[in-house]
Amino acid sequence: MKIPQLSLLKRLAFISIALPLLIISCKHETVEPEIEAPSNLVYNPNTMSVIKGTSMSSNTPSISGGTPITYSLSTIPNADNAITINQTSGVITADSTASIGTYQITVVAKNSKSSVTFTNVFTISVGVANPVTFIAKIKPLITSNCSSCHTPGGSSLDFTDYTRAKGNINTMINRINRAQGSGGFMPQGGTALSAANIALFEQWRADGLVEN
Ligand code: HEC
Repeated sequence: MKIPQLSLLKRLAFISIALPLLIISCKHETVEPEIEAPSNLVYNPNTMSVIKGTSMSSNTPSISGGTPITYSLSTIPNADNAITINQTSGVITADSTASIGTYQITVVAKNSKSSVTFTNVFTISVGVANPVTFIAKIKPLITSNCSSCHTPGGSSLDFTDYTRAKGNINTMINRINRAQGSGGFMPQGGTALSAANIALFEQWRADGLVEN
């Protein structure tokens, strides 16, 4: 009989096509191990000091998580775009146009699982080779010219304190540059600082208000 024979062939054909398909689709359903999010981004060392006018790069950081990972800076820490990050290696570079200052670097590491922000993982300080420092040059000037009134120890006007002097540098420079005897002139009631000493205050600011 013809019909049952054809039907048997059809069954065989069905089995030979459907069975492999079934096996393949079962394989697809097996759960792949999930890729891990980026974690533990570490720069060693995690700081670098750059001499203004030169460029410098960090070491390659270590990180955990599924690859590939791409890196970016969460915010551009320097207005002139002088600080960049290598997308694939995570190496951070400050180029020779970086301005004097200290920059906390926040890095975003991204893979197919997620995008993770590592806040302040690296610090760059850009400075000059031989800066005017507070301890060496500015504090002695303040002690001899200002401290009779801006008395050390508790007063809010104690400028022998590094943090306070740094925080008030613009006002100090403004006051010592006023005409002797005019309103707000410092040292009040006294003699103007020499041009060289005024220049030291200004250079201290220009060099990045370094303490030591
Ligand atoms: C004879 C006392 C006297 C001396 C010396 C003196 N100051 Fe003053 N200073 C004052 C007084 C009083 C004030 C508050 C009144 C004012 O703001 O002018 C003041 C205010 C200031 C302010 C403003 C502070 C603020 O909160 O805005 C600065 C900055 C300042 N002095 C810097 C200096 C510096 C720098 C020197 C040394 C080069 C100096 N002063 C020496 C008496 C003095």
